[in-house]
Amino acid sequence: MAGLEFKDIRKSYGNVEVIKGVDLSIEHGEFVVFVGPSGCGKSTLLRMIAGLEDITDGDLFIGDKRVNTVQPRDRGVAMVFQSYALYPHMTVYDNVGFGLRLNKTPKDERDAKIREAARILQMENLLDRRPAQLSGGQRQRVAIGRAIVRNPDVFLFDEPLSNLDAALRGSMRMEISKLHQQLDATMIYVTHDQVEAMTLADKIVVLNAGVVQQIGSPLELYNYPANLFVAGFIGSPQMNLLPVTVEAVDERTVTVASSDVPSTRIPVASARGIRGGDSITLGLRPHLLAHSEVGGITGKVLLVEHLGNETIANFALNSGEQLVAALPGSAELSNGVTLSLGFDVADARLFGTDGTAIPVADRPFR
Ligand SMILES: Nc1ncnc2c1ncn2[C@@H]1O[C@H](COP(=O)(O)OP(=O)(O)O)[C@@H](O)[C@H]1O
Ligand SMILES: [Mg+2]
Repeated sequence: MAGLEFKDIRKSYGNVEVIKGVDLSIEHGEFVVFVGPSGCGKSTLLRMIAGLEDITDGDLFIGDKRVNTVQPRDRGVAMVFQSYALYPHMTVYDNVGFGLRLNKTPKDERDAKIREAARILQMENLLDRRPAQLSGGQRQRVAIGRAIVRNPDVFLFDEPLSNLDAALRGSMRMEISKLHQQLDATMIYVTHDQVEAMTLADKIVVLNAGVVQQIGSPLELYNYPANLFVAGFIGSPQMNLLPVTVEAVDERTVTVASSDVPSTRIPVASARGIRGGDSITLGLRPHLLAHSEVGGITGKVLLVEHLGNETIANFALNSGEQLVAALPGSAELSNGVTLSLGFDVADARLFGTDGTAIPVADRPFR
């Protein structure tokens, strides 16, 4: 039974700071995903929770205990690595039970725990095999089994599915989700893959260069990205981010235009700090663009991808900017055709001169 609390957590290697003051609360039982590009500090943060890296500054609590100087084995956490880290000469049974053996868990109890983990992970038939006789997905399941038998309060996963092929990643994702529902444990999961983050998380923490960019539910991040980084990182195909100029502002609307975008009045919750003439960014999700007869953004089709359920079309705009639209699967488009695309102003997102989102007028998504 443990939540976690991060208070201004920092990490430096020599005089290079790689985690720059993280504040975060995680509730007991939550599934939290740290997501961000390679090198942003995800593993470092996870390893500090596990006790595998010293915390340079700040306070880390697991439950109500400050754990900065607590030994890894006494933190109630278990970690699953991308590289599985199995012993090649041991059977699955012995790999799963290795930690229990080390801490001298009685044989009967050990056996019961190993079999229970094998049951949960549906690998009872694999217990006598060695790692070399397993597929990648099965090996990762053994690594997860080894974490389960320790009965931790907090599971830590560091890119556990990155070595698997796409189909297997999808099915393992579902298994990890099921595991979370069964075990009533807190799970913290690190990935660079935004789709994995969106599908698994109750709460996503987006990191860039050691700084938290935004914390929220998958839909909150998708619908209300806090800045240009999150806007570009979450969602596939990416949000279109077009440079526009502010033509007019009042308290609750900002009117923008460019050589690509006809003058458009966009409702906002507050236009504080925005001035006429500012160069800002208009964010439009590809799925929220639709063919319109007149008055939209005009572009020439560069490339069409017919996926069946939808058609992804890349457009070149007048200014040379590109735009991606996800249109219905039935859309018949060919290269070189000129088309006008419209959008609902309520779906448009604006980012100010410093890249921070201008508050959205209505927020139906939580
Ligand atoms: N032992 C180390 N010594 C020096 N720099 C390190 C060390 N480990 C990680 N780093 C640096 O810290 C940053 C964050 O690394 P990491 O947490 O592994 O990123 P991620 O897991 O998000 O890819 C990177 O810039 C990396 O080069
Ligand atoms: Mg990493």
